Amino acid sequence: MKFLLLSILLLFSQSVCASDSTRVKSQRKIADTVNVVPPPATPAPLFTDIIPQPLSVVKGEERFTINERTAIICDKEVTKAADYLRLYLPLERTKGKKSNSIRLLLNNKLGQEEYTLSIDKNGIEICGGDYGGVFNGIQSLLQLLPHNVYSKTAQLPMEVSYIEVKDAPQYHYRGLLLDVARTFQPVHEVKRVLDYMAYCKLNKFHFHLVDNSAWCIEIKKYPHLAKIGGFRGGDSPLHPIYGRFNQKYGGYYTQEELRDIVAYAAERNIEVIPEIDMPGHSKALGAIHPTILCNYTPDTSCTNGIDNRNVWCVAKESNYALIEDIIREMVEIFPSQYLHIGGDEVQYAQWEPCPDCQRLMKEKGLKSGAQLEQHFLNRVSDILTKYNRKAVVWDEAVDGGLLPKTTLVSGWRGIKQCLNSTANGYPTIIMPASIFYLDQRQALHERGHHYSKGISLKTICDFTFENAGFSSEQRKHIAGIEGAFWGETYLPHINPKGHFSDYLEYMLFPRLFGVAEVAWSSTRRSYDDMMKVLKDNFFYKLQAMSATFRLEPPTIKVENGKIFVSTDDGSKLYYKDIRTNKTHEYKAPLNANMAPFVTFHSRLMTGYSDDMGTAEFYNFAKPKMKLTSSIPFSQKRTAEACESYNGPAYTTRCAKEGDWVEFRFEEPIKVSYIKVATGRKHLHRCLIYKGHIEICYDGKEFVRGGNLYNGFFVLRPRKKAIHALRIVADHISDANNKVIIQPLEIK
Ligand code: ACM
Ligand code: ZN
Repeated sequence: MKFLLLSILLLFSQSVCASDSTRVKSQRKIADTVNVVPPPATPAPLFTDIIPQPLSVVKGEERFTINERTAIICDKEVTKAADYLRLYLPLERTKGKKSNSIRLLLNNKLGQEEYTLSIDKNGIEICGGDYGGVFNGIQSLLQLLPHNVYSKTAQLPMEVSYIEVKDAPQYHYRGLLLDVARTFQPVHEVKRVLDYMAYCKLNKFHFHLVDNSAWCIEIKKYPHLAKIGGFRGGDSPLHPIYGRFNQKYGGYYTQEELRDIVAYAAERNIEVIPEIDMPGHSKALGAIHPTILCNYTPDTSCTNGIDNRNVWCVAKESNYALIEDIIREMVEIFPSQYLHIGGDEVQYAQWEPCPDCQRLMKEKGLKSGAQLEQHFLNRVSDILTKYNRKAVVWDEAVDGGLLPKTTLVSGWRGIKQCLNSTANGYPTIIMPASIFYLDQRQALHERGHHYSKGISLKTICDFTFENAGFSSEQRKHIAGIEGAFWGETYLPHINPKGHFSDYLEYMLFPRLFGVAEVAWSSTRRSYDDMMKVLKDNFFYKLQAMSATFRLEPPTIKVENGKIFVSTDDGSKLYYKDIRTNKTHEYKAPLNANMAPFVTFHSRLMTGYSDDMGTAEFYNFAKPKMKLTSSIPFSQKRTAEACESYNGPAYTTRCAKEGDWVEFRFEEPIKVSYIKVATGRKHLHRCLIYKGHIEICYDGKEFVRGGNLYNGFFVLRPRKKAIHALRIVADHISDANNKVIIQPLEIK
């Protein structure tokens, strides 16, 4: 999760205003993983699978042909939905009656977001209980059409199977969180995410706009909040928590851009719920508008003078005036009845040295930091009520049960907290990090956050409310489901020129289909069924969307002196030798003696699997060595832990230019691969971002070996004896209070 985290980065200027996100995406280079596979050809297949699984589907035998004369006819309330459909199908919109038509109609006998879709000799008819119902019907129709509707290149005529679909969502809250504070995403990227949500019938976009790393919303009364607070590093007063201290990066949205995003979302039946995370997670705001902070001078000796405080002072009346000013502008931009005000991971200790907060606690009889937080959030909720809005909060905020029961709760810490919140009668969005956080890795050795063994599509598909222990009474308080993509693990995946990689999509797909299935469907598919539908059908759709997706890693077996690798999805196999850093196509079993040095991956269309080795690959040599540094090591996470290859060592402050860390081997080593790494694994934090390596080949002199990249360096000494290695910092590292030194990986 982001835990006590905070920010991330990004150097894309946000100048992009392209409204056609597909076009922009197709201009992006999607790594070298694209391996276009045409869908099976003649006779043109007819599709009847719909994700998420509808309530009922009756398939017909025959097919309806959409041709140039097919018209779109719609009730006037759903004209925007008709125009949306026309983005994908080159058809005219007309008035009147016509059997060769796609009819989009409202039907007040149907409920909220409910729809029927019938395709027969009379054409295609979608009836919805409201705009959302019609829109949901359109999404089901798109899934039944040839895949290339998603690339907006579909040719007429096209055939579609006769079908009768009756469908309605299980929950009206089906969300996705996007954290743009840690990794800023320009408008066209946000729209692309909205497109993906729409394809999955997800309807709540939780827009995490503010965090320790950045303030991304233009507030006209306080322009410096975004103009300065949107950027960090370089000459910004805001110091990055996640690497790249020496570069200025970030971005923010103007109010005009935010209105454009809200309108784009609304056309897609998506409500945008903005979040300003308070009273914690506010380092960015504190750095540029320090009057929000408490009344004391913090100790900054281990952060090279950087004030990392991130909690609003509860006692300052001026803070509530500022919040009201901000909310007054936000409600003009975001029509949602909800505004997320955060409430997670507040460092209560920051209130302890503040005489004003302590006085307030006494005055109000507040016994703990948690109660002081609730006092703060209640004040903010009162402001929201004045503007006819309701609060959404993270689940910590309702632990004491003091917030009004109309407060919507985002249950993120675990199932237990979701059970508590629903038992206490709070409408609760079920999004425990261990199941619905899509920034987490998908399997043990993959990229992404690694505080669990991995969240796969299977983890999500296997989730049920019954197994999670919700009683029927608690279930009445479930508002819905939300997936979350936090931005801090994105940073290392942005290439050196500042271009986005396909990392976000890789993390979203196919897991987003699982989130949609849990949120929407009361007739859920099993994981196996879902995988079948993906392989037979939806992987082609993802290819047509130009969306990267994750494949299951290949199966690897070592037998009779050979390494055998296979997949069951028709993908091509490759292996990479870390001694040469070269990738080759896997054509035949490899010799087992390569196992320590090779990883395997597969590619199919716009999908690929992460690198995966045998168990032997994850074993490293452990030559005796001594770790020293110009910065003292922590007493808790000692140098010895790292020397014995058991875990990382922590220093007692962050690094400045000239600081060094030295690994000296008891005996010179002759090996083919050494990885030197600083920072948290998978996270661009507590590292030396800008630094170089020095190598000692003779026991005396050090020679320069190369620059760190993303906090690490790989040395391939080709069996030349090495006595010692050094990391030297060329710049202050980041705004954390330590550097983490990972044990060397040696082969
Ligand atoms: C969270 O992940 N801190 C809500
Ligand atoms: Zn205070």
